[in-house]
Order: sequence, then structure tokens, then C-alpha cells
Amino acid sequence: MNLPGKIRTGRRLAGQLARTPSELRNVPRTVRSQGTPLDVGLPWLAFVVIDRLDEIVGPESSVFEFGGGGSTVWFAERARQVTSIEHDPEWAALLEERFAATPNVDVRHVAAAGGSYDEYVASVESFPDDSLDVVLVDGRSRVRCALAAMPKVRPGGFLVLDDSQRKYYGPAHEALAPWPHETLQGMAPYKFDFGVTTFWRRPAEGD
Ligand SMILES: C[S@@+](CC[C@H](N)C(=O)[O-])C[C@H]1O[C@@H](n2cnc3c(N)ncnc32)[C@H](O)[C@@H]1O
Repeated sequence: MNLPGKIRTGRRLAGQLARTPSELRNVPRTVRSQGTPLDVGLPWLAFVVIDRLDEIVGPESSVFEFGGGGSTVWFAERARQVTSIEHDPEWAALLEERFAATPNVDVRHVAAAGGSYDEYVASVESFPDDSLDVVLVDGRSRVRCALAAMPKVRPGGFLVLDDSQRKYYGPAHEALAPWPHETLQGMAPYKFDFGVTTFWRRPAEGD
């Protein structure tokens, strides 16, 4: 990043911290988490989001994610089953190598054939309806991925969309409006920046 870019980022971060001073407590976690995601093993999500996932994901959880990385490492250590869909061939090869001997992780490289993410989006179709405890939408074509994943989330399960503040994710917010949600934001690992993520919980009987 060039100097003007660094100044803009620094100003933005200062503004975000001024508006959310409670996030100052997570600055040391950002400092401690410098490195590559596969070595550090943390999702590229705000620490408040990671802490919320820690409350949700357990040894019986079935997790599906669009976009692999540090999150795959983190889920692998906590969940019963992790399926990770990755479009980038080089990144997918690194993930496949990393998890080759990890029985609860299934990394699937799904390329954007001819520039189309149809197959990538449809990868969640291999799961039965109402079967996934957590779906993390953190890769490509996020609105379509969120819409395709909705019926696959079990009642009481969670659909998690990173960078949910982006205006063009509006159709996902509209489709998910009947599900209760919470949006969390704060300091994230790896870079001095804020992340914004929304959790939707699929209503369960009796809610
Ligand atoms: C926002 S990242 C998030 C990935 C993952 N859910 C996580 O939390 O670590 C989305 C995409 O960036 C790419 N990516 C992530 N980390 C990378 C890295 N260290 N080097 C190259 N590509 C990376 C991958 O294609 C990935 O699907």
C-alpha cells in the first residue's frame, strides 16, 4: 500500500476505534496474530466474531464454508466435520496439502469455469436440507452462496456472512430478513483493520 493509502487506512481505523472504544482491548490480539493464516490458524474475521463462533461451534458441529483459510484450521480443531469450498487453484492446493491427513476436513477446489461461479455456489447442494450447523459465506459470489445455503442450515443453526456491510449484499439481507440476526464488528487478525460480519440464526420450532 502506498503512503496516501496507509494514511487513509490509519484514519479510518482511528475513527472506528473512537466510535467503538471497547475494541481497543482487541488491538493486542491483532498485534499477536501477524503471520500467514495457515500458520496463525485464526479465521480472517473480527475477534468478536471469532469469539461468537467459539460459543456456537462444538464437537458435534457440521460446518460448511465458502472460502478456505485460517478459518478452516480453526474449525478443524473444533467441529465434527468441516467442508471448505475454495475457488483459487493455488490456495486450494495449499489447503488440500495442509488437510490431507485431517479426517474431519474436506477441502473441495471448485474452479470458476469460464468465469462462472455456478458450480461453486451449487457445491452446497450436496448437503441435505436442514443439515448444517454453521455456514460461513466468506468467498466469492456471496449473495448467491447465502441464498443457496439457506435451506441447508438446520433450524437453530447459523448462516454467517462476512463483510456484510457491503451495499451489494442487500439481496442476502432481504432474503434472510425473517431470521433473527446480529451484526458484530471489530478488530481482526493479520491486518490493522475492522471487520463487519452478520450472523443469522434459522428459526427453530418453538422460537
Ligand atoms: C476473505 S478470505 C477468507 C478465507 C477464510 N474463510 C478465512 O477466514 O481465513 C477469502 C479468499 O481469499 C483467498 N485467500 C485467503 N487467504 C489467502 C492467503 N493467505 N493467500 C492467498 N489467498 C488467500 C482465498 O481464495 C479465500 O477463499
